[in-house]
This record gives sequence, C-alpha cells and structure tokens, in this order.
Amino acid sequence: MAANRKLLILPGDGIGAEVMRQVMRIIEWLDTRRGVGFDIEEALVGGAAYDAVGTPLPEKTLEAALASDAVLFGAVGGPKWDGLEFSLRPERALLALRKELELYANLRPTVVYEALADASTLKREVVEGLDMMIVRELTGGIYFGEPRGIETLPDGQRRGVNTEVYTTSEIHRVARVAFELARKRRGLVHSVEKANVLESSELWREEVQALRDAEYSDVELRHMYADNAAMQLVREPKQFDVIVAGNLFGDILSDCAGMLTGSLGMLPSASLGKAGSDGLCRGLYEPVHGSAPDIAGKDSANPLAAVLSLSMLLRYSFGMADEAALIERAVENVLNGGLRTSDIMQPGKARVSTSVMGDALMRQLDKVAA
Ligand code: IPM
Ligand code: MG
Repeated sequence: MAANRKLLILPGDGIGAEVMRQVMRIIEWLDTRRGVGFDIEEALVGGAAYDAVGTPLPEKTLEAALASDAVLFGAVGGPKWDGLEFSLRPERALLALRKELELYANLRPTVVYEALADASTLKREVVEGLDMMIVRELTGGIYFGEPRGIETLPDGQRRGVNTEVYTTSEIHRVARVAFELARKRRGLVHSVEKANVLESSELWREEVQALRDAEYSDVELRHMYADNAAMQLVREPKQFDVIVAGNLFGDILSDCAGMLTGSLGMLPSASLGKAGSDGLCRGLYEPVHGSAPDIAGKDSANPLAAVLSLSMLLRYSFGMADEAALIERAVENVLNGGLRTSDIMQPGKARVSTSVMGDALMRQLDKVAA
C-alpha cells in the first residue's frame, strides 16, 4: 500500500485555530469512517510563530511544508502585529510559502448556495445560481517584481517603488489552469488586465490569446479591462464562468466576487503548483476570510470556508473526489436545515456557534455517507 499522504496543518492566528478544530473533526471522521488516514503534522505560522520564535515563517515550518503533499492553512495577522517591521509581519509567511512552494495558480470559487441567495447584499435574481471560478496568478506580478523598495531622494523626499512584471511562461502556466478548468465547466474564460494602459498587461493579453489559439480553440476567450470587470461583477456576475487575472487584479476582484455570495465566511481557496503525471499537485488550501481578530476566540466564526478548503484539498491534491463531494453535500444540507453562523444569519434561521455548526456537519456527514 502506498504511504499515507502528508498533510501539514497551519492554524495560524485569530479564528484560524477555531475553524481548523472543526476541520480536524472531519479529518478524524475520514479516518475512522472511510479508512483514509493521513500523516498529519501541525506547525506554527504567522503572528503565533512570531510570538513563539521571533519569525512568521520558522525554518521548521517551511521544511515541513516542502515535505508535505498539501498544506491546510487557517489565517494569519491581527492588530497585535501591525506595528512590526515589514519582513516580520504575519502576512509575509503566506507570501513566502506561496513563493517557496511555487504555488502559482490561486483558485477562488464563488458559489452562491440556494439557501444563502438572500444573504447577499445584491438582489437574489442577480446572484441566484452563481457558480464562477477566479484563477489568480499568485507568485509573480507586482507582489514580487523588482525593483521594489522605499528610498530617500537627494532632496529629502521619499520614493516608493514596485514593479508589475510578467513573462511568457508565467502567463502561459496560469492561463493553462484557467483553460483546463473552463473545459470542465462552461467553456468560457475572461482574461482580465489593463492592456489599455500597461505594457505588462498588453503582453498578458497577447500571450493568453496565443495559448488559446494554439491549444484551446474549443474554449471561448474574452478579454476585459480590470475596472470594467469590477463593474460587471456586481452588475451581471452570471456572465462569468472562469476569470483569469494577474496577482493584484485577482486579489481585488476575488474579494469583490466573494461578497456576491453573502459572506467571505463561505469561501475556500486553493493555491496550486505544477501538476504531476497523475494530474494531482501540491497545494495550500485556505479560507479566504482571514484571521478576523474582532471575533477570535468567541466560538462564533463560520467554519464552512475552512471545511470547503479541505474538500478542495481532497479533490486537487489527493484525488479523493468522492470524499470531497460528501463534504460539500454535508455543507449544503446543514445550510438547507437552517443553521447559520452570525456572518450569514438571516431572519427566521437558527444562529449557531462555530462548534455547533461543526456538530451539525458531523451528523450530516454520517447521513450522506450512509
Ligand atoms: C489574499 C490576501 C493576501 C494577499 C494578503 C494577506 C497578503 O489579501 O490572500 O487575498 O494580498 O494575497
Ligand atoms: Mg486579498
């Protein structure tokens, strides 16, 4: 029998630890009820790591991540660490992990569950049935481009610089992920940039088009400027199937898209590297919501984004589509049953804590697996 898959758990800061506790219950359930065991390790990251050992990404954590098949990440950051020097901020750990593990494709699904269609700030008819995927480039662009920094000029002014830069291969590998996903979905990709203003965007547009023409002529490709895309996302989101964008535009648009679902507390994400010959790839999986320091430790966070991140992990890194589907069905059933954490609370529904939501999930898992 093949060795167990290696799973690294990084709870991090704020609500990271409490949502991860609910995820661990599901992992235990998978072990006892489905016979799928993992080699699990847990490590420090973010502010918690800084407090313990003085750096947001300890060497030991990075080594464990490099040795793992997948990483499940809670959240990092909080006001406690806001005053730290740039290189010691909790967020640096996340950026370094993405870079070191070469996780260049960030998948952010935006799915509006029927039970939550009224939880969005947009009208039901605008968001009902929405199912789109944002593919954000994650290891390049202005987040990592050189030169960068802050300098003091001879006249005493200060000057801050960052560089937006993309190469052909960086564009092709992330666009390929988008085209492959579109093939399994509705066959439509919107590529988003600012080719009317930026050369790096002009190259992005040309290279995405060239790849489509050479290898994906069965997929429809449309180009859209980023400002227009922001507007179209709230005007008529259902026109989108897959969106592919660079690091910064993808960061901004995915928060905007996330809100269409009613709550960031529902949104999982996957950050993927190059796929192996079996089609599976190492990945880092995290809820989009972040550390939410205002509600940390109160047992009121929504664990569903972290739970759905686990289901993405099972699908993309471990090839366990059946188990992933079980988890997704359990989540849907819990929502249909009327349970809501505070972030998705609606009139007439039952407000529950993080752990009670977890209890309900466990019961539903038993049911859907029976
Ligand atoms: C995200 C976050 C991060 C990013 C921060 C925390 C560094 O906003 O994952 O979208 O900008 O990539
Ligand atoms: Mg962001």
